[in-house]
Amino acid sequence: MKSFAPGRVNLIGEHTDYNLGFVLPIAIDLGCEAIAEPSAVGRLTVHSRNRDETRSWDTATLAAAKPSGDWTDYVVGVARLIPGLHPIHLTVSSNVPTGAGLSSSAALEVSSALALGAGERGVELARLCRRAENEFAGVPCGIMDQYASVAGVAGAAILIDCRSLESRPVQLPPGVAIFAFNSMVKHDLGVSAYSERVRECAEASRFLGISSLRDATLAGAESIPDPTVRRRVRHIVTENQRVLDFVHACDRNDTPMLGDLFFASHHSMRDDYEISCPEIDFLVDTARQVPGIIGARMTGGGFGGCTVNLVEQSQAQQAAGTLRDLYHQKYGFHAEVYHVHPSAGARILG
Ligand code: GLA
Repeated sequence: MKSFAPGRVNLIGEHTDYNLGFVLPIAIDLGCEAIAEPSAVGRLTVHSRNRDETRSWDTATLAAAKPSGDWTDYVVGVARLIPGLHPIHLTVSSNVPTGAGLSSSAALEVSSALALGAGERGVELARLCRRAENEFAGVPCGIMDQYASVAGVAGAAILIDCRSLESRPVQLPPGVAIFAFNSMVKHDLGVSAYSERVRECAEASRFLGISSLRDATLAGAESIPDPTVRRRVRHIVTENQRVLDFVHACDRNDTPMLGDLFFASHHSMRDDYEISCPEIDFLVDTARQVPGIIGARMTGGGFGGCTVNLVEQSQAQQAAGTLRDLYHQKYGFHAEVYHVHPSAGARILG
């Protein structure tokens, strides 16, 4: 069995998924391919073409396997959840850059799950892969990445309600293109700061007497004594509203509003949620001056990775080049740019 699952770029709605709010990702035209072949030897063997590395586990004792703290956790985490897994030789290869906030791990989980024969589809498949990441890889993430990888729509973003787990396609105005700009930096804070944000939000929900920050209000946020937690809640409340406003602006083809919402989202991540970093702030501030760029913000978990830029289609190449030059002048990095297109979700290839 052969399968493919895409990475994603989140357009807007950051850190709202585990607060059961709204997100608006696109699945992208970069992804992971997984090929499963039967193996006679009672083992799950996984080969990564990217790393040229092969590892292997006894299928009979897979349930007791311990995480290795590397890429194999995403595969084994999923494999453990597939009842009666047969001995398989799995080959994976991906063109989603790692550590860039484009969900290389979700693409690996979802493509592996399909190739290994998981019976789940749609939201259930996304849930299974998220469980692998939460329980085995040890990242307390929400469902956005796996959902986008499973349920992406060609030509449209998807508005996901992370409480009901329903989604609907949302078209960007005609002539608006998207590029992700890889800052090439990933600050160490990553998983620990992510977990800290998850904890702060849970603490705030308890204080407010609600089951998730989906139901928080600005007035509620202002009643929180701890100024840090107060700011976290403010980000979640305003970010959820920005997602809905963004969708509304798409429906009205109000392109300037999309740009305003992108910048406002970034400022909220920078000041209230405190998950940005100087390189990313530079890229967002600089994007404002680049002709053709409509809006920019950090995308993904934070502390580096990519910005997502909305750009006039006719100026996309030039604008990305200008930004690359300015970034190189400032930090000396040769950044990678991905001109991405909203793409279909995971599929079995045969
Ligand atoms: C990571 C997580 C997602 C989501 C984003 C932030 O990508 O895996 O669940 O929380 O960060 O929006």
